[in-house]
Amino acid sequence: MKIFIDTAVLEEIKEVRDLGILDGVTTNPTLVSKTGKPWKEAILEILKEVPDKPVSVEVVATDTEGIKREAKELAKLGANVVVKIPCTEEGLRAVFELNAERAGVKTNVTLVFSPLQALLAAKVGATYVSPFIGRVDDISYDGLMVLEEIVEIYNLYGFETEIIAASIRHVDHVRRCAALGVDIATIPYKVIKQMYRHPLTERGLDLFLKDAKQAGISI
Ligand code: E4P
Repeated sequence: MKIFIDTAVLEEIKEVRDLGILDGVTTNPTLVSKTGKPWKEAILEILKEVPDKPVSVEVVATDTEGIKREAKELAKLGANVVVKIPCTEEGLRAVFELNAERAGVKTNVTLVFSPLQALLAAKVGATYVSPFIGRVDDISYDGLMVLEEIVEIYNLYGFETEIIAASIRHVDHVRRCAALGVDIATIPYKVIKQMYRHPLTERGLDLFLKDAKQAGISI
């Protein structure tokens, strides 16, 4: 499973990249606004730090022509730009037309909450699809169940669109995504940190260090 970080904070991206586990970045308007930086500056900084990894950047237009225009502009910012397009009728049409025109724009159909939306994203030839599992949980439904069905449908028909499990809230979401065989999980920084921490690792290390001192081990 590929690991993307779901953030627009440069320091978080650099830290996870330097740990050697980063495969890509996803942003959205909310995440960029939280940085307090001008939108374009924040995006260009990210693209520069991870030039060899896909970075999803979201359009704000809602009509097909506007989405296509923004998508083409965003794609010019870097070869690693993936344009995030909402799963609306206009958005799906924009993805279809960008592909038909061979515009060379990689797309990520976002705000996906159902298997049928994911099916349509694959049909129009999206590069990625982003089911939001946490937000489905928020409305008292089971986000992982939705994701599982999407994985099943994609496997049944051999769709090439890659699934990005998004809106991840905790480590158990990540574990279950990995067990489902999802292509990618886009994970917030705080959850990535929790993935390698374990109280037994910390307790075990404390004990080993104490015993090493007692035994006079020094290398
Ligand atoms: C996905 O690409 C989105 O940026 C993100 O995962 C949304 O998550 P949220 O529900 O925590 O806002």
